[in-house]
Amino acid sequence: MKKPFTLTGVALATTLLGTTAINSFAADETLRSLAEERHRYIGAILNSEWFYGNIEAEFEQIHKTQFNAVVAENEMKFDATEPNENTFSYDKGDKMVKYAQENGMRVRGHALAWHSQVPYWVNSYSGQKEQLLAVLKNHIENVVGHWKGQIAEWDVVNEAVNDDNNHGWRSNGSVWFEGIGAEFLDSAFVWAHAADPDAELCYNDYAIEWGLGNGSKAGFVLDQVKRWKANNIPITCVGTQTHIEISHETTPQNVRAFAKELAKLDVKLNITELDIGFPQGSAGSLGQSDYEKQGHLYRQFMDVFLEEPNMGEFVIWGLTDAHSWLDGQQGKTQGLLWDKQYNPKPAFDSVMASLKAHPASQVKSPYPSSQFNPPCEGDGCGDSPEAIVSITANKLSAQINGRTLSIAGAKSAKIDVFDMQGRPVFSMKGVKGAVELQGLPKGLYMVRVRDGSASLTKRIVIR
Ligand code: G3I
Repeated sequence: MKKPFTLTGVALATTLLGTTAINSFAADETLRSLAEERHRYIGAILNSEWFYGNIEAEFEQIHKTQFNAVVAENEMKFDATEPNENTFSYDKGDKMVKYAQENGMRVRGHALAWHSQVPYWVNSYSGQKEQLLAVLKNHIENVVGHWKGQIAEWDVVNEAVNDDNNHGWRSNGSVWFEGIGAEFLDSAFVWAHAADPDAELCYNDYAIEWGLGNGSKAGFVLDQVKRWKANNIPITCVGTQTHIEISHETTPQNVRAFAKELAKLDVKLNITELDIGFPQGSAGSLGQSDYEKQGHLYRQFMDVFLEEPNMGEFVIWGLTDAHSWLDGQQGKTQGLLWDKQYNPKPAFDSVMASLKAHPASQVKSPYPSSQFNPPCEGDGCGDSPEAIVSITANKLSAQINGRTLSIAGAKSAKIDVFDMQGRPVFSMKGVKGAVELQGLPKGLYMVRVRDGSASLTKRIVIR
């Protein structure tokens, strides 16, 4: 239920939420609240500056308010997680996973097998197939195993298709392809699945938003997905990075066409690294109409995303133009939803408007509804997420304090607790008073209390 806000409340809340009072949205409506109502994920990277505590306070405040999915810009890549052979470094990734659990976010792991950002030591095995297979297997088993049950989806292989016209595998510059051959891709998926059978496993690439025509990169990827599915390789999704420019107006419909083909294979298509940049050097000449045109293209991507039932994640490769890879490496600029002063741009309004224009009842999701909330029974359904203070449904009431969940009015209640991926993590019968939710990592959970015909379901935060 939407709480009425006073004007002051709206002004204050919208500023904190990273929006401005001119938006025509309720102050408690955010990208994530609208996405969650639609059982979808909208995410943004945690820029590398965040990991080093070197970013403005507004960044995290907006990020956790507006997004329910997260991925590390660089900190879960091969060079970051295994900087030296068989020596693993998880501290930065652990920091992100903790942040995500505390803020009820889905985590994407990026990326296991990639030709880039490979630590120097791997190249000492260049051309040695068996050694490289052992290195890649060991990496995947350790990294995926470390975050088993905490990372919902992995980019198992990233950017393995070349950019030449006769699209094929990227041979030059890939220690994996040059030393092992194309089988490294199949093996990577098999090893990742063995390490975490519950994780979604994606093939992720750029420039696959240009149509499926003969000889297209997307067409080559689609053919590989068909082969993998026929050979029972456990791929569940394709990630279209979608790093595009403001002039690339055909790309949303190309993404829709790709999604429809993958749906036939029961494979999801996720937007994984979206930014819509202006040509470098144009920064000084951009006006409102340019930013509104950018918003129009963002809106088309969100429209496609919400209308295609096998699309689940809409992830933007940055939050603010103040911290974007575009300015450093791509000759583009200002591709994100917030400007360098953390003001929302027309693109933010456009993405919000698209979400509002697609009622939850009309949006299908590729994910089980239990990921967003377990079956809600009795009173207390549908409220916004909050720590339980004191709720009463029928005769039941529940209160959480730290890890102690106190139940009143129950004769013999059954307690079920689910994580934000909808997985049951705690259950107890015959509860009459209090129960200690020990052993659960800090984070956001759904708790369901049932006693005879009375029941209630609410989100709780364990801090
Ligand atoms: O960590 C070092 C630091 O110690 C050093 O002082 C500094 C200056 O040399 O470099 C730092 O490493 C940089 C790293 O980002 C972390 O900031 C690398 O030089 C730089 O090349 C690297 O760029 C990243 C790029 O991937 C590498 O390919 C970008 O931040 C990151 O946004 C970008 O992300 C990729 C996705 O992973 C895959 N899809 C394309 C996307 C954009 O290129």
